[in-house]
Amino acid sequence: MLGLRAPPVTPDRETRLAYDSIEVTPLTARIGAEIGGVDLRIPTNRQVDEIGRALVDHQVIFFRDQPMEPAHLSGLGRSFGELAFHSAVPGLPDHPELVAIHADKDSKFIAGEDWHSDLTCDEAPPLGSILYLHTVPPVGGDTLFSSMYAAYDALSPRMKAYLEGLTAVHDADHVYRPLFPDVDRRYPCNVHPVIRTHPVSGRRGIFVNSSYVLRIVELPTEESDAVLRFLYRHCANPNFQVRFTWRQHSVAFWDNRCTQHMAVWDYFPHTRSGWRATIAGDKPF
Ligand code: SIN
Repeated sequence: MLGLRAPPVTPDRETRLAYDSIEVTPLTARIGAEIGGVDLRIPTNRQVDEIGRALVDHQVIFFRDQPMEPAHLSGLGRSFGELAFHSAVPGLPDHPELVAIHADKDSKFIAGEDWHSDLTCDEAPPLGSILYLHTVPPVGGDTLFSSMYAAYDALSPRMKAYLEGLTAVHDADHVYRPLFPDVDRRYPCNVHPVIRTHPVSGRRGIFVNSSYVLRIVELPTEESDAVLRFLYRHCANPNFQVRFTWRQHSVAFWDNRCTQHMAVWDYFPHTRSGWRATIAGDKPF
């Protein structure tokens, strides 16, 4: 298994190993790279290893022209770890480990329209997700990704010190209960550090998002609301972002531990459709 779960290392961009089985083209200095020279249906072990490394180096990686069936996407996901079942959304009938990401003329909402990391409500939120789109609208439907390392690095030393040791409540109930009113269950709710250390890179990143987080545990309500408002605005700064314009058979693989993303719904009534595999993660620290 590649080093996606290895103990923390000091990132050293000068001495890190080069890639020799894939082509890696950074898209910004902070986040995002396009990967070429691989067929994701049949990657070699070395390519899987280097894709894992590129993910840790660039936080979100993109691939073009990768026609896939659901079984290919599941197989690809499994080469990076155990797949995680979604805590609320049912999977595909023949592939319950994958969820459909679909919007069309009848949609009333789309998945991921607000800034978020996936399923931070879980006790061990996902390591990452791989999204494949087989159908794209004629225009629009981009996904924005924001680097939580860059957002953390840009905080003042005083703000970093203030946030140190704080924890936040991540609750899925207010997200999924309105979407599935007939389902009678309590969705996950867990407490995680506001500043998280990436288990592989050792870098620190902001780990609160407006979709799941209700409050910061250690602060009075008004102060918590104000701090969260500041952090959400800060994290959405375009200087920390990369924006991906999809084509048919594109793939995005994001590291859920150090990024947030949001899907733009600017293509209604057109159809945008694909599947997402999610890789199980660890308890944040
Ligand atoms: C998601 O949040 O997983 C959906 C992202 C997208 O549709 O671009």
